[in-house]
Amino acid sequence: MTTQEPGPPGDALRLDGVTLEFAGSHRPAIRDVSLRVARRKLVAIIGPSGCGKSTILNLAAGLLAPTEGTVYFDDEPVTALNPAAAYVTQQANLLPWLSVRANIGLALKFRHVPKGERDDRINHWIKVVGLTGFENHYPRELSGGMQKRASIARALIYDPSIVLMDEPFGPLDAITRLRLQQDLLDLWQEQRGTLIFVTHDLNEAIYLADEVVVMSRGPGTVREVLQVPFSRPRDIGSLVESREFADLYNELWGLFKAELDHNEAA
Ligand SMILES: Nc1ncnc2c1ncn2[C@@H]1O[C@H](COP(=O)(O)OP(=O)(O)O)[C@@H](O)[C@H]1O
Ligand SMILES: [Mg+2]
Repeated sequence: MTTQEPGPPGDALRLDGVTLEFAGSHRPAIRDVSLRVARRKLVAIIGPSGCGKSTILNLAAGLLAPTEGTVYFDDEPVTALNPAAAYVTQQANLLPWLSVRANIGLALKFRHVPKGERDDRINHWIKVVGLTGFENHYPRELSGGMQKRASIARALIYDPSIVLMDEPFGPLDAITRLRLQQDLLDLWQEQRGTLIFVTHDLNEAIYLADEVVVMSRGPGTVREVLQVPFSRPRDIGSLVESREFADLYNELWGLFKAELDHNEAA
């Protein structure tokens, strides 16, 4: 039970004074984090390695429970695994013994969606993420970028009300990364669900997000939330050339750099 009021209507996710300390640890992984993500927003969480970004996603997914404070999803406290959240973890985590089709259709199968409809939706998503021709391949036969595409399709296919992505494009080369970032922008333009992603790439945060949550380390807290004012649909190519982009990048870099300096001094 909690004495706190639930968040006002309109928040998809809300962390209210959340501290999480892992058992046996000497200090909390995150401390007193308060954060709200409005419905249908695209929010980036950025911060140095170890500051608690993945921990926040795990809390949102219901995989971890706070030591103090409350996590709300759609104004209800999260007390168990959150079935409304699709979680794209850092590794693609495709099931190696299933084809691309079967991997992408997994959530629909679990939800007992009839085979005809399932096939239609799988076909649609295979096209959307550009895996046509590879639907019957196995994960090991795909490149890293293709595996990532498949895992994104697998998460989005059942219209989850919130998508959590942990460094979705981390291990990919620069070109593939840019292409997938633009793809994700285009996909989100159609779907418009709530999407929270973790990154340590300042550019990526600005390209994609409506809001950038900057975390500081030791223990993890929210340092600042920056608004990204660019209109949508967005085109990364033209964004990068704009003056506003450079200004925002510098502001974000300033925050980030202060964080690094602070940690070196500490
Ligand atoms: N299962 C765990 N047990 C103990 N400590 C953990 C565990 N998972 C993460 N941590 C610690 O919590 C802190 C935050 O981790 P994490 O959320 O993974 O950071 P980030 O994703 O920002 O790199 C780190 O100091 C990490 O070492
Ligand atoms: Mg992490």
